[in-house]
Amino acid sequence: MSLLKIEVGNVRPFLGEKCLSRFGAEISLCHAMLLSKNGKGNDFLGWMDLPEEIEAGLVARIRSDAEKIRTMAEVFVVIGIGGSYLGSRAVIEALSDPFRPLTGAGNNPHIIFAGENLSEDYHAHLMDLLDQKDYAVAVISKSGTTTEPAIAFRLIRNHLEAKYGREGARERIYAITDVARGALKTLASTEGYTTYVIPDDVGGRYSVLTPVGLLPIAVAGFDIVALLEGAREMRRDALASADCEQNACAMYAAVRNILYRNGKLVEILVTYEPSLQYFIEWWKQLFGESEGKEYKGIFPAGVIFTSDLHSMGQYIQEGMRCLFETVISFEKPSRQLTIPVDPENLDGLNFVAGKRLNEVNAQAGLGTMLAHVDGGVPNIRISIPELNEYTLGGLIYFFEFSCALSGYALGVNPFDQPGVEAYKKNMFALLGKPGYEKETAEIRKRL
Ligand code: PA5
Repeated sequence: MSLLKIEVGNVRPFLGEKCLSRFGAEISLCHAMLLSKNGKGNDFLGWMDLPEEIEAGLVARIRSDAEKIRTMAEVFVVIGIGGSYLGSRAVIEALSDPFRPLTGAGNNPHIIFAGENLSEDYHAHLMDLLDQKDYAVAVISKSGTTTEPAIAFRLIRNHLEAKYGREGARERIYAITDVARGALKTLASTEGYTTYVIPDDVGGRYSVLTPVGLLPIAVAGFDIVALLEGAREMRRDALASADCEQNACAMYAAVRNILYRNGKLVEILVTYEPSLQYFIEWWKQLFGESEGKEYKGIFPAGVIFTSDLHSMGQYIQEGMRCLFETVISFEKPSRQLTIPVDPENLDGLNFVAGKRLNEVNAQAGLGTMLAHVDGGVPNIRISIPELNEYTLGGLIYFFEFSCALSGYALGVNPFDQPGVEAYKKNMFALLGKPGYEKETAEIRKRL
């Protein structure tokens, strides 16, 4: 069975005649640009070869450090923002028992994220928790200068040193950053923290298959070798052909760009599995930050059905017709639950008695798809056989490669994020950061 299937039958009526074959030629050029590495942002294409080129020694080191962390920590705090945490969170939450924090089943440390927000309440509650738990920390920042994780790390380092002493703290801190630049690198070298390097040619949102994602995923108890294998298999397919009918990445990139040119400005990634909530967040960051520039790009949104059918479902069915949906699903759940027969049938539900819950979920999906397509919302379907490390690795590579192709088709550089700087400049000016005196004076006049 192939790792991933894409179905676009419910998009074709919205594409226009011969559109896909015409656009296929454009996507072929983008594919060639990626492979020959002569497109925009070509100094950030390291992610393309990661699954193939990651050194066995590095994977072994990550696994061995993960084992060490697993024996010393009940909680592993991952500090990072954007691409420095979303990939690991996506995989960990996709594969975890959602109720383990309450049942306490299994021996894996709890992975907790910090530094992806500046909430005082969130971080104060975290400190309370860390008072009671043995913990270790990964601080992740490619630039080594991002404010949110830097502040969280200062708070947590302070706590860690008070709890374990400076030497004890040092053994519990793992820094993942640039090889040479940035304040985090300076701090890690001065303090002698265990350090992993984020390759120069891999940007944050394409970094889940580097130590950025692999260390937290391994600490959580998941198989990073299988994750890389899945990505490797998808890479083979992605590179082998530029033909939309042969290459799912090319098909996805082509279809979404045609829809965009036909006025479908918002893509909603849909799942029927709450465990994929952070996968959606990772996808939103990947596509939003890669494509939303030069005042163009599809706006990436996400919903979890069936819950959101009782909120956003109304808009999707009858609101502005600028939407299309991409549904990700897996065929086989890892657990089984059958709806029982009730002889009294007071709730009138015996028509589903004896059915697996997954079957009901699947029928809800089918019914929704038909309703949305009838309502003018094109529907792309992406499915994997089941949810595990191997298929998630494939899915990650699928979206990364598709995003790069799609960004090139849009005519932007999918590997930079110049727009992220604007809020930082204002925040630094408002906080009176040294070097921002002129901006501080200017911004104060506006308040
Ligand atoms: O994709 C990106 O490059 C960004 O989302 C970054 O990951 C994010 O801004 C965090 O940057 P850094 O890792 O430098 O702290």
